[in-house]
Formats: sequence, C-alpha cells, structure tokens
Amino acid sequence: MQRVFSGIQPTGIPHLGNYLGAIRNWVTLQSDHECLFCLVDMHTLTMPWTPQSLREQTLGSTACLLASGIDPKRLYNQSAVSAHARLGWIFNCVSRLGWLNRMTQFKDKAGKSRENHSAGLYVYPNLMAADILTFHATRVPVGDDQRQHIELANDIAKKFNHDMSIEFFPEIEPIISPEAARVMSLRDGNKKMSKSDPSEQSRIVLTDTPEEITQKIRRAKTDSEALPSEKEGLEGRPEAQNLVTIYAAMSDQSLEKVLSDFGGQGFGSFKQALADLLVEKLSPVATETRHLLADEHHLLQVLRQGAEHARNISEPIVQEAERLVGFLR
Ligand code: TYM
Repeated sequence: MQRVFSGIQPTGIPHLGNYLGAIRNWVTLQSDHECLFCLVDMHTLTMPWTPQSLREQTLGSTACLLASGIDPKRLYNQSAVSAHARLGWIFNCVSRLGWLNRMTQFKDKAGKSRENHSAGLYVYPNLMAADILTFHATRVPVGDDQRQHIELANDIAKKFNHDMSIEFFPEIEPIISPEAARVMSLRDGNKKMSKSDPSEQSRIVLTDTPEEITQKIRRAKTDSEALPSEKEGLEGRPEAQNLVTIYAAMSDQSLEKVLSDFGGQGFGSFKQALADLLVEKLSPVATETRHLLADEHHLLQVLRQGAEHARNISEPIVQEAERLVGFLR
C-alpha cells in the first residue's frame, strides 16, 4: 500500500482553500491508504510568530482537523518527531542554492525585504522534502500552490540517491484534486485565499458562524453580469469563476451542472444558495471544533499518540539515511 503524507501550517484556523484543496481529500484517502497528517509547527517559525499564538493555533488546528474527520491516530505535530529536523539538515546539505533561488513561494513571502527574512524561510522546501521522505511516503495530497515544492523534493531525493549510489528514497507524486486546486480570495479573484491576507472578509474559516459565512458570501466581490450557462462564459471573470468553483466542489457537482442550474440568474440568488450550502456543510465542523477545543488535555493526548506512531515509522528510515551519509552511532 502506498503511504500518504501531508501537512498544514498551524498559523490559524484552516480556511475553505485548505479544506477543499487538502483536508477533504485527506479524509477520503484515509479509508484506503496508510496516512500521516502533520501540523508543521517547525515551518511556522519561518515567518514572524509568538509562542502563545503558536500553541493556541496548533491546538485550534488539531481540533479543526479532527472535526473535519481526520483519524486521530494519524495526526501529530512536526516538532515532536525528531526525524524531520535530522533529515531536514541532511537535505540542507544535498539541496542546491540554485534550486532554492527558483522557489516562487520564497519570492512571494519574502517580497522586497529578502535580506530581512529568516534563513528558515529560505530552506523551507528542504524541510518539507524531509517531512515526506522520512516516511518514504509516495503520495502527497496538496493544493496547486505546493506543486513546485514537491518537484524540489523529488530533485533532492534523486540527488541523495545518486550521491549515495543507492535507490533509497522513492519518487513522490502530488495528488492535486482538479475541482478546487486553487480557491481564490473572496475580495480579489486573482489572489489565492490565504491565512495571511489582512482582510478577514477574504476567506471563510472552518469555525465561522452561519451569520459570518452568509455575510462574507454576500459581500464577496463579483461583477455586474448574470451568471453564464456555459464554462466559456466564466473566462475573464475570476470572481464569478471562483464562486462557481466553490459551489461545484462543495456540492460534488461539475461546473457545467452548476452553470446549467444557475446560468442566467443574477448573483443575489446564487450567493444565497452558496451561503446555504456552505452553512450546511461547514456548521457541523465548527460546532465539533468548539466542542473539542474545550478539552485541551484530550487534544494533547491525540498529538502525543500520533507522534509516537509517526516516530515508529520515521525513526528506522532517518537512521538509515544517517548511516548512509556516514554518521556514527
Ligand atoms: P499550508 O499550511 O499553506 O496549506 C495547507 C494545505 O492547503 C492547501 N491550500 C490551498 N488549496 C487550495 N486553495 C487555496 N487557496 C489553498 N491554500 C492552501 C495547500 O496547498 C496545502 O496542501 N508547505 C505546506 C505545508 C507542508 C507540507 C509538507 C505539505 C509542510 N510540509 C509536506 C505537504 C507535505 C503549506 O504551507 O501548506
């Protein structure tokens, strides 16, 4: 059976993009794959953070993932499993500066003040490669924005195998679900929905109340034309495209079906239908998250057990990698 690994940064409550691009697929894959899901708290240190918010957000994300249906035995936080850091360091020494210089996420996050960002942000993709490869995982369900990172992980694995003259690390395949690979901001259809967007109106988070969801959808940016009846009519209309894509993914229907139902109508009635659908699907997750958050002890217990399971799988693999590079024990 192929092993599945994926991660999410505990930088806030997961949003609709995280849910449709990743979490929902994780839940499906669990039923017939061996899966590990990780709150990548070490990656979170690559951008400004506070200890208190990291602790709170790790617990909040844990509750949210469990409420979304993630199997508690498969969930843990990265820093509790030392294999990530150990293999991450080896990969810092395998990966090439030229490769890292091409990473678009570093350029996006560092912006113009590149010199002032942490070295961690720069080597972020090396740690991400270690996350996956320390389990010999071969399938990685992610949103479209992680595609380049997975390609780099494969380059690192190949170079390690070549340098050590052994086929030790397997090839990784991203699983990117086409329906909602890139959910866009509700305020700007050309920008990805993101936890770091200063406007809370730009995203729906999984703990939003029905009133918040309805209000955010009602205020979502649109254009003044009616919805088209066919897909081609969405071209050049990024906001309309985004809302229809969300509706289709959330209702498990094709874009064509949604457009044949709503084509010709104005945004008023479509937004109401979308808000109702989101409330119906997400409210149970929000209620369960709140319930789980009331028992911190239980959440910590889940993470500890998940970490023990992750250690059992990763430890022999990282030890073998350490032996291959020449470390003595
Ligand atoms: P992160 O925390 O930014 O996002 C978690 C997952 O959500 C997906 N995603 C989206 N999908 C569709 N539309 C969006 N607007 C959207 N925003 C986020 C992401 O693609 C991701 O799948 N580098 C990773 C975390 C990570 C990781 C890993 C992932 C660390 N190590 C190893 C896979 C394997 C990140 O920052 O995800």
